[in-house]
Amino acid sequence: MAEMACVDLFCGAGGLTHGLISEGIKVVAGIDVDEACRHPFETNNAALFIKEDVGRVSPKRINKLFSGADIRILAGCAPCQPFSTYAQRYDVVGSPRWGLLYQFARLIKSTRPELVTMENVPAVTKHAVFDDFVEALRKLGYWVHQDVVDCTLYGLPQSRRRMVLLASLIGPIELIGPTHERPATVRGAIRKLPSIRQGTAHPKDPLHSASKLSELNLKRIRASRPGGTWRDWPKDLVAECHRRETGHTYPGVYGRMAWDEPAPTLTTQFYGFGNGRFGHPTQDRAISLREGAILQGFPPSYSFVPEGAPIHFKALGRMIGNAVPVTLGKVIGQSISAHLGIKPERKNSKKGGIADVARKPLVA
Ligand SMILES: C[S@@+](CC[C@H](N)C(=O)[O-])C[C@H]1O[C@@H](n2cnc3c(N)ncnc32)[C@H](O)[C@@H]1O
Repeated sequence: MAEMACVDLFCGAGGLTHGLISEGIKVVAGIDVDEACRHPFETNNAALFIKEDVGRVSPKRINKLFSGADIRILAGCAPCQPFSTYAQRYDVVGSPRWGLLYQFARLIKSTRPELVTMENVPAVTKHAVFDDFVEALRKLGYWVHQDVVDCTLYGLPQSRRRMVLLASLIGPIELIGPTHERPATVRGAIRKLPSIRQGTAHPKDPLHSASKLSELNLKRIRASRPGGTWRDWPKDLVAECHRRETGHTYPGVYGRMAWDEPAPTLTTQFYGFGNGRFGHPTQDRAISLREGAILQGFPPSYSFVPEGAPIHFKALGRMIGNAVPVTLGKVIGQSISAHLGIKPERKNSKKGGIADVARKPLVA
């Protein structure tokens, strides 16, 4: 069988990699500037983490990682903040992050991998840098497929729309069709996790940790109903900015998730009750970091920090909220296998395999 090797640029904690590996795609390495990603990436994926700026990575380095594989895959999910709808309202065009897609294109041009995959927010398609990226691929002879995907159609228990690009030098390639008729729900994903209080962590899983609420937010969450908004609260709990009749309100902010619906799109601050509809459906707290990771498709046992290490909500929220949902990584993996006519082995062939097979998840 043809030897495959994938390098994951901007690999983060490994959401994309984990999905690919689960579907039998051999990921040999991930590259990211954030050292905190090393532990989750390497521990759960038996692949090498390289701390480096993608802008400085040489084609020689990438070729060495591919080390003569017949099917070389360059994957990448450049930071999406420059393309988010929020960011577009502000002048971030000068941000060096806009250039990272050009860096991705540079590495494609100089290494000519058989396959390329790229994921980002749907708004990326409105920008010249994206058109340039697609144009560069076409000029190099790639068949290019791009689609905006509703992740609930593939079993992710979270409303999340993402642009997925697949490109191949071998022939026409496309994303597999939807796999789920009905969306997965918050209930199916997190109901079995043990109860915890706001500001505490479960003794057996430090990641099952809920942020602390102020007295006011505690009153607010008690007055919230699943799927509702701050409009359900008594007037004295409503924030000043919401009370004003400007016609410009944010009904989504502050609220509980509904058990029988997918979660709202997780941001990097999903652990804060005031940052979106991130309240637990019944417990008086925001969802925990572990619950957020599960709603992003990570297995319940995915290790994000070494044992005994402190839990930093901001850093972990960023890692989890920014991840390509593992579910989407699997869909991309299945699409690649279908394109290559391969029946996937569904595990990494490297020593150690996928860590979650060995670890016991935390369930009540
Ligand atoms: C959207 S996240 C990637 C998520 C990841 N693919 C996953 O599935 O978990 C973007 C990542 O790019 C990294 N990053 C930002 N600038 C970078 C650069 N110049 N070189 C390498 N990585 C960079 C960030 O640290 C972040 O982890």
